[in-house]
Amino acid sequence: MARYPVDMEVHPEVESFFDPQTNTISHVVMDPGSHSCAVIDPVMDIDYAAGRITYDHADEIIAYIRKFNLELEWLIETHVHADHLSAAPYIQSELGGKIGIGDQIIVVQETFGRVFNEGTEFQRDGSQFDRLFKDGDTYKVGKMTGFAMHTPGHTPACMVHVFGSAAFVGDTLFMPDGGSARADFPGGDAGQLYDSIQKVLALPDEMRLFMCHDYAPGGRDIMWETSVAEEKAENIHVGQGKTREEFIAFREARDALLDMPKLILPSLQVNMRAGKVPKTKDGTPMLKVPVNVL
Ligand SMILES: [Fe+2]
Repeated sequence: MARYPVDMEVHPEVESFFDPQTNTISHVVMDPGSHSCAVIDPVMDIDYAAGRITYDHADEIIAYIRKFNLELEWLIETHVHADHLSAAPYIQSELGGKIGIGDQIIVVQETFGRVFNEGTEFQRDGSQFDRLFKDGDTYKVGKMTGFAMHTPGHTPACMVHVFGSAAFVGDTLFMPDGGSARADFPGGDAGQLYDSIQKVLALPDEMRLFMCHDYAPGGRDIMWETSVAEEKAENIHVGQGKTREEFIAFREARDALLDMPKLILPSLQVNMRAGKVPKTKDGTPMLKVPVNVL
């Protein structure tokens, strides 16, 4: 882990917001040495059947940041989500901050630019985002340093973001009893996901891990925080030293049985544009449904 600047002496406070529509958890991570904060994976609400977008989840996060007089410096997307829409631009318009994602977003934009038959007005260079992170890149939230670890497998652009003793794992891992995320979206790869999970498990045992999703297996309460030690010991897909071959066989068999996420079509079109809803030539917000492509 030498090349990642891990610093277990910094202990950021984390406030988390669960979205019951999509089982997504968004996080506010706060620098203990200042009033600065970052938001990880904020959700924009959509009633897809009605084509109606609202902001209740994002407004909760905005209210929290205002209540504690925090300064929002970053809006981080761990990846291009396929199950919910990003509220990053909406929160940015209210509170400022820069929107960042992994630099492999250009691969995702190329793939889905084709799926949605986008014209040349859709840039495939990541320019919709304020910052594209490379593996190992660092950035500041107040006095606290964050860094990005490239963790492909679920998608090519997935990144885990680490601040002091808190890591935001996106869709690399779920809680120990939830296992891992699927690896069958275009550009996904179960072997790569296994390798990326090993990078996360190589962080210090006491590292707090914050999930992006939880589906409450077995009917327990929703949970979103665990640790490297717990994942290594108990994760049902990769714990106790499961081999790469075992993981790939299991993951591919499981993924073949999964339905597409309900919101994959609107999510990809919006999230590959950094959370902006696409518009027709005359400026009308509009989403497409490509037939028999996914
Ligand atoms: Fe995801």
